[in-house]
Parts: sequence; C-alpha cells; structure tokens
Amino acid sequence: MALEIIPLSGSIGAEIKGVDLTRLDDASFADIHRALLDQGVICFHGQKLSPDQQLSFARRWGEIHLHPYLDGLPSCPEIIEIVKEAGERNRFGDHWHTDQIFTPAPAMGTMLYAKEVPPVGGDTLFTSLSHAYDALSEGMKALACRLRTYNLYDKQAPRSRRMSAKIPEQEKEAKPAIHPLVRVHPETGRRSLYLTEMQTTRRFEGMTDAESRPLISYFLRHSTRPEFTCRIRWNVGTLAIWDNRCLMHMALDDYPDYRRVMHRITVKGEPTIGVDGIAA
Ligand code: SIN
Repeated sequence: MALEIIPLSGSIGAEIKGVDLTRLDDASFADIHRALLDQGVICFHGQKLSPDQQLSFARRWGEIHLHPYLDGLPSCPEIIEIVKEAGERNRFGDHWHTDQIFTPAPAMGTMLYAKEVPPVGGDTLFTSLSHAYDALSEGMKALACRLRTYNLYDKQAPRSRRMSAKIPEQEKEAKPAIHPLVRVHPETGRRSLYLTEMQTTRRFEGMTDAESRPLISYFLRHSTRPEFTCRIRWNVGTLAIWDNRCLMHMALDDYPDYRRVMHRITVKGEPTIGVDGIAA
C-alpha cells in the first residue's frame, strides 16, 4: 500500500490516506508505526471495521489493557463503548489528560473509532508534551528534570454515570502513582513533560500541595499552548490512535443536542523512565 501522510497542524498529528486497516501487511504497519512515533497521533478516515477487526489492529501495537471500572462490549470486552446521548453532558475525557497516569504503568496508546458523530462539534484536541518540554528555558528544563509527580485518581472528577458507579471506595483512595515530570520515550528517546489536569497530578515529591500547585499550573498552561496542538474532526468510520507517552488529549463537550458513540481500546504501557534512566 502507498501511504500518504498529511499533517494535521504545524506541530503534531497526521491523517494517513491510502490504507484499509482490515488488509494491512507488515511493511505498511511498520510505516504506520513510524508515523505514530513521528506525529504522536494519527487518524484514518473512511474505515469500515467490525469490533474484531478493530481489535486485530489494536493487537498489532501490544497487549490490550482491560478497563478496571467499565465493562466492554458483551461480544468484545476489550472495546469500551463511549456513549453521550443528546441532551447529556460529555463527561468522558473532557479535560486535558494522558490515559492512566494514576497507575504505575500507564497506557502506551489509545485507539478511538467513531461509530456515530454529531453534525458539528465533538472534536478531540491533542497537545505535544515533547514540544512543550523542548520550548522550556534551560533553567526550567533543569528544574523539571529533577521533579517527580504524585498522581492520584481524582474522585471529584466528572465521569460518566456508568463509570462512577463501578469505582469501589477503596480504589478512590488508591495509592498515588509516582512518575518523573520529564519522561524519556522508550522508543524515540525523546524527552517530554508528563502530567494531567483535574487534580490528578496532585503535587511534587518532597513538596506540599500548596507549594506544588502554582508550578503544576504553570506546566499545564505551558503544555497546552495552541502551537503544540492539533485537533481531529471525526466522521463515522474515522479511527485515531495516539501515543499517551508524549501527548495529552481532551474531548470537546460542544455538541449538547447530539449523540456521539465511540469504540475505545487502550494498549498497555510500561513503567515510566526519567532522564536518569531509572524506571519510576
Ligand atoms: C478519551 O479521553 O479517551 C476520549 C476522547 C474522546 O472521546 O474524544
């Protein structure tokens, strides 16, 4: 297959054309894998995938992560159906985050396949945490490289009703996952900031919440500067995959009157590695 790679913005993201994901040979997959590492997030429009076909594509990237609080489809438990009904608020992923940062080995990647989309709105935004790291001053880079974050599941965060119901009380009080604020990408060796909004990245190791908050706010504001971002506009049949090791993403909640249905699979990741080469 001859792939055409069309950038989504001046910084990250690409649409890949000329691919039928149900008929992928190893050479084309190697090109797609390279494109994900280069672009951080890639999308394919006009795909016609059954749940099993989406799962086969996801398995090419690694082992599948099963969500602890959300049931998958009865016929395919690896796929979580994210549904927002017309008139409901979209509570799933409506803030800047990277998936499962509150666990010791957060998801490597997430794949979303659009089944039903609003006529307008419902885009997903992405921001590059490697561009954000690169744009820091040398002084701030040196400080950031020394910091480690405490990341806690945020029980106050708005979630879909289906999800909240299944989170046991003791899990809401789970132990924090500790990660380097600057992580080194295991495949590209590139450095990126690594943090999440909504009180999930709670504080820095060795600092109080009050001491940490202004610095965390700074890093979040810096990381979401428009020039580090791109957006995906979904059509029915669009599939996107993104690299959680160097990106944050956010689902836009700007389509109150419409239904949106997505099929989501996450691929397992590894413990994070800091600039000292030590796994967190
Ligand atoms: C997510 O945060 O994984 C969902 C993103 C979306 O629904 O656009």
